[in-house]
Amino acid sequence: RVLDAEGNVLVPGIVDCHIHNREPGLEYKEDWESATRAAAAGGVTTVVGMPNTDPVIDRPEHLELKFERGEASAHVDFQSYAVVTSENLELIPEIAEIGPLGFKIFLGSTVGDVPPPNDGEILEAMEKIRETGKRLGFHEENGEIIDHYTERFKAEGRNEPIDHSHSRPVIAEREAVERMLTFAEETGAKIHMFHVSSGSAAEAVARGKSRGVDVTAETTPHYLWFTEDVMREKGNVARVQPPIRNADERERLWDVGIDDGAIDCIATDHAPHTPEEKMVDDPFGNTWDAISGFVGLETEVPAMLTFVDRGRFTLEEWVRRHSTRPAQVWGMYPQKGSLQVGTDADFTVVDPDREWTLEDRTELHSKNCVTPFEGESFTGKAVATVVRGAIVAEKGAVVGDSGYGTRVDVE
Ligand code: NCD
Ligand code: ZN
Ligand code: ZN
Repeated sequence: RVLDAEGNVLVPGIVDCHIHNREPGLEYKEDWESATRAAAAGGVTTVVGMPNTDPVIDRPEHLELKFERGEASAHVDFQSYAVVTSENLELIPEIAEIGPLGFKIFLGSTVGDVPPPNDGEILEAMEKIRETGKRLGFHEENGEIIDHYTERFKAEGRNEPIDHSHSRPVIAEREAVERMLTFAEETGAKIHMFHVSSGSAAEAVARGKSRGVDVTAETTPHYLWFTEDVMREKGNVARVQPPIRNADERERLWDVGIDDGAIDCIATDHAPHTPEEKMVDDPFGNTWDAISGFVGLETEVPAMLTFVDRGRFTLEEWVRRHSTRPAQVWGMYPQKGSLQVGTDADFTVVDPDREWTLEDRTELHSKNCVTPFEGESFTGKAVATVVRGAIVAEKGAVVGDSGYGTRVDVE
């Protein structure tokens, strides 16, 4: 890292391997242009799109379409995952040829209702993906457990969204993690746990690592920042899958995940939805069917810098988890996640002392900006974002061109 005269700090470009850019098909929520505009403004130089779009990214031609759209309009460099369902196991080698960053399986239902493969199909997918050399990531929640508790809570007349984290309980996450670890142990597949929300799941990941499973894991700023009390304050605005957990789970996520190293990567799970979908005008209304997810590309660097400022962890540990490790985990290093490539390097300049409050979500650059971080105060902000030697954003203003961003080649 380099310190400039004004006290700013230059770090390797921030790599966010979990965003929902919504293109193709859900452009009313977000698209490659708007998502990468937010990334640039927020200090993020590489983003990876999730495959729960319309169509879902489950065939070679859908992945090609996703890449073409990104080439046409992205401000920063990008990649994409391809999804595995019970319908496309045979296509895994062909999809891998197109060059996705990795594969993803949604266990249990989440936004987009991508049908989960059954356990036998997951084992088969792991064998096939192992042959491609790529990593397989999971939305790691057991849908049967969630359905059970959701039905029970509805019947009891309990109140969503207050009880959101109980109707999608920690056990649903922990069980899914442990089952996938067992499957990976059997098949030798490389696996990844997206958006780990709880200390319990982080502990399961740690046990897998100690048994020698090639498992990596991610958490997000919102699980480290909030506790489930935020549901009482902000209702549906803070609804996300997996849900935000209680203080004990959050502490263990810090201890086991961050301090002891079970969590490799920080990413946002940037998940834009319209204010109507997020029920911002009635956040505590009848909300069993309200949508989950919120944006994060412009608050992730500030949130993590705030933790650094509070002494929760070091700047170096932050950079490792938000740039170097994600690039290594997904095969993009040292092209990404490093300052070693000279004039072609990606870097982010941050002001670690800058105190500010996100007063109004419309300050953000996404198409839809609902986030529970609205109203939160931070110490730290990105002041410049540089992708392959070109400044794409400066002091929060996007100065680069749409279409400059390009696909990160991982083949
Ligand atoms: C994500 C979305 O909106 O696509 N929502 C969420 O609550 N996390 C889906 C996902 O990441 O599972
Ligand atoms: Zn998910
Ligand atoms: Zn997600």
